Amino acid sequence: MRVLQFPLELSALVLLSLAVGSCAHKEPKSEHEIEVQRALQAAAYHCAPAVESFTAQRKQAWAQKVLGGVPGYQQLFEAHSYEDLQQTLSGGGDDAEDKTIMGCTPISETHIQNNTCVLAPEVTEGPYYHTEGHLIRQNIAELQDGLLLMLDIGVIDVETCKPLPNVLVDIWQANATGHYAGHPLPHPHLANENPQVGGQRSGLLSAFPRTVFEETWLRGAWPTDRNGVAQFTTIFPGYYTGRATHVHTKVFPEWSVLPNGTFKSGRLSHTGQFFFEDDINIVVDKMHPYTENPIRDSRGRTRNWRDSLNIFEDSHGPEGKYNPVFKLHLLGGVVSQGLVGYITMGVNASASYDNFWKG
Ligand SMILES: *[C@@H]1O[C@H](CO)[C@@H](O)[C@H](O)[C@H]1NC(C)=O
Ligand SMILES: *[C@@H]1O[C@H](CO)[C@@H](O)[C@H](O)[C@H]1NC(C)=O
Ligand SMILES: *[C@@H]1O[C@H](CO)[C@@H](O)[C@H](O)[C@H]1NC(C)=O
Ligand SMILES: *[C@@H]1O[C@H](CO)[C@@H](O)[C@H](O)[C@H]1NC(C)=O
Repeated sequence: MRVLQFPLELSALVLLSLAVGSCAHKEPKSEHEIEVQRALQAAAYHCAPAVESFTAQRKQAWAQKVLGGVPGYQQLFEAHSYEDLQQTLSGGGDDAEDKTIMGCTPISETHIQNNTCVLAPEVTEGPYYHTEGHLIRQNIAELQDGLLLMLDIGVIDVETCKPLPNVLVDIWQANATGHYAGHPLPHPHLANENPQVGGQRSGLLSAFPRTVFEETWLRGAWPTDRNGVAQFTTIFPGYYTGRATHVHTKVFPEWSVLPNGTFKSGRLSHTGQFFFEDDINIVVDKMHPYTENPIRDSRGRTRNWRDSLNIFEDSHGPEGKYNPVFKLHLLGGVVSQGLVGYITMGVNASASYDNFWKG
């Protein structure tokens, strides 16, 4: 079998993302909430092999797309490392090939554990969600400048371990300098428009309500295909005070198209947030226009481990074994040519959560 690999694997072993941001909980959690979480965790663990093969197939499809038709390119980037190359040359055999196919990690070495974080999603959509108006489209970038980022988001039902077709994946994110479409810029000279000092919300600004209704950039939703995958074209997100670099998501198993190209949401099955490795965040921060972030020199970027409300930390689960981070690969030979990020969300397709932010 032909082994195709992207030149660089940037992230840790992340195969399953479960209600990451949902971990921004209101203390204390109720017994019931904890029960629900534990049940989902157990279900997610049970799906790990299904998620693994799901991801491997998607990687292969991307590799063919990216590398296809460029003679010699595959050979050039076939190996991850010198060590891998040695193995290939010495005829590592089918087994070795299977293990390194597209850089996929064998399931025995993944970090999926029963402590994968899943909570009821009331808080985590944050103040920048729009209850109406996200367009159904794959390219959400509009005229926003930034590093090309393709997202390959898989959705799997933790009750059946099967990919979920035709569920709407809604995403929204900040632009390269940390702003959300529709929300005004904060005024640093006003005391109440400065980030909070200390406490759980340390670094966070108070919510700025939507006022610019016509802005739609970096917001969009797309249904999963028959293989349970929704792909998006966007830019790598920028950061704002208090929060680690992230992308928001919601999953709707029930939805309908409105005449103006937006959707009417039905049942909500999942609310979460995706993250990026700090290694790649550091690199992107040095690229234009990310360097123009107004808080770059004053407050700087919030590292994943310092994320407000413990959203990133909590998403690793009580034993810290789980990692809700995009697996990233270069789309070309160098970072500035763009990245593709994979993630698989384990959702409970029959669950139904309230679809609004309660602060
Ligand atoms: C995870 O939970 C399942 C179901 O409760 C159990 O069978 C399995 O042994 C657990 N695995 C780990 C790693 O704790
Ligand atoms: C699309 O139509 C819906 C329903 O009429 C409306 O609520 C929404 O504001 C419209 N969105 C846009 C972007 O025009
Ligand atoms: C991000 O959005 C804000 C608000 O619209 C805008 O002022 C800023 O120029 C945008 N950033 C980039 C890099 O375009
Ligand atoms: C999924 O949600 C349904 C409906 O709320 C619930 O009965 C079921 O236990 C949930 N499954 C898991 C694995 O949490």
